[in-house]
Amino acid sequence: MDVSKPSSESEMNNLTKDSGIVKEDEKLAIYNDSTGKEHRFSAICTHLGCNVVWNDLEKSFDCPCHGSRFSGLTGNVINGPANAPLENKDNDN
Ligand code: FES
Repeated sequence: MDVSKPSSESEMNNLTKDSGIVKEDEKLAIYNDSTGKEHRFSAICTHLGCNVVWNDLEKSFDCPCHGSRFSGLTGNVINGPANAPLENKDNDN
C-alpha cells in the first residue's frame, strides 16, 4: 500500500492550479491560484450564512441562496446582496 505523504497542502486537497474547493465539514473555501499558492476563506456567505460553492468557470465562490459571488483570489464581493468579503482564513496573514 502506498502511504506516501502529499508534499504540499495543495496536493493534500487534491487541488490543481487555478481551481478551488469547498470543504463543507470544515466550512472552508480554498482557492489554489495560478502560481500554486492557496487562499483560504470561510465558506460561510456573509449575507445570511449559507455555504458557498466553487464556480470553476468564473473562478469564484458563489452562494446558492441569493446569488452572492466572491472572488476566489481575494474573497471580495463580486456580486451582492452580500456586502462584506468572505472571512480570510489564510495562516500566513
Ligand atoms: S446567504 Fe448567501 S447570498 Fe444570501
